[in-house]
Amino acid sequence: MSVAKNEVKVVTTHQLQAMKERGEKISMLTAYDFSMATLLDGAGVDVLLVGDSASNVMAGHETTLPITLDQMIYHASSVVRGTNRAFVVVDLPFGSYQGNSSEALRSAIRIMKESGAHGVKLEGGEEIKDSVVRILSAGVPVMGHLGLTPQSIYKFGTYSVRAKEEAEAEKLLSDARLLQELGCFSIVLEKIPAALAKRVADELQIPIIGIGAGPHVDGQVLVVHDLLGITKEFKPRFLRRYAELHQTITDAVSSYVRDVKSKDFPSEKEAY
Ligand code: KIV
Repeated sequence: MSVAKNEVKVVTTHQLQAMKERGEKISMLTAYDFSMATLLDGAGVDVLLVGDSASNVMAGHETTLPITLDQMIYHASSVVRGTNRAFVVVDLPFGSYQGNSSEALRSAIRIMKESGAHGVKLEGGEEIKDSVVRILSAGVPVMGHLGLTPQSIYKFGTYSVRAKEEAEAEKLLSDARLLQELGCFSIVLEKIPAALAKRVADELQIPIIGIGAGPHVDGQVLVVHDLLGITKEFKPRFLRRYAELHQTITDAVSSYVRDVKSKDFPSEKEAY
C-alpha cells in the first residue's frame, strides 16, 4: 500500500535545524526526475537538491551555465511529484539572480509556484546579498552555497579546492556569517579544506552541508549519478561510490541487445 503524502512526517527547515542541534547528520542528494526522486525519498534522504548539475549529468553540458530557469522548473516539478518526505531545494540557475534582486525574486517565485519545491539555493555571499534578502522577504527559504561555486567556473579557471589561502578563507567565513545573519536556513560548502569547514560549522548555528568539505560539518551532499557510479570517469577524492551502475546497466542492456538479435526475446511466454 502506498503512503499518502499527508501521512508522512515531512522534513522542514525547523527539523533540519533540530538535527544540527541534536548532532544528527543531514543526508542530501541531487535528484532531477520523478523515478529517482521516488527511490531516494523512499530510502530516507532528508534533502533532495534539484541541482543545476542537471546541466552536466542530464543534458551533457560541460558546465552548469547553460541550464535555464524553465528547464530547472521542469526537473524540480518532476522531483516534487516523486517526493513524500524530503525537503526539496532547487538551484537558481546562472543568470536568474545575480545583480538584479527583482529578477532574483521573480525567478524564486516561479520555482516555488510552478514546481511546488520548498526552497531555493544560490551561489555566492556578499555579492548576492540583495537577491538573498529579497527572496527571503517573500517567505522563501534560502540555502547558501560557498567555496567552489561552479557557476563561477570561468572566474576560477579550475574545479580545484577553494579557500586554501588565508584571504579566501576569511572571505568565506565572513560570507557564511552574512548568509546566516540574513536568514538563510543552511549553507552548502563545496570543496574546501576540512578544517575551514569545521570552523564554519562550529561557529554558525544553521546547518552546514558539505561536499568535499570533510566530516566535521552537519550533513553531506553528493551528486546521485556519482554516488551510484553512473558517471564512470568522475572520481574525485571526496566521492564514495556505493554502486557501479555504469557496469550493471551496460551488462543489462548488452544482454537485451544480444537477446533481441538472437530472437531469444520475446519468448512465447512474453507474447500475447
Ligand atoms: O548542482 C549541484 O549538484 C550542487 C551540488 C554539487 C551541491 O550544487
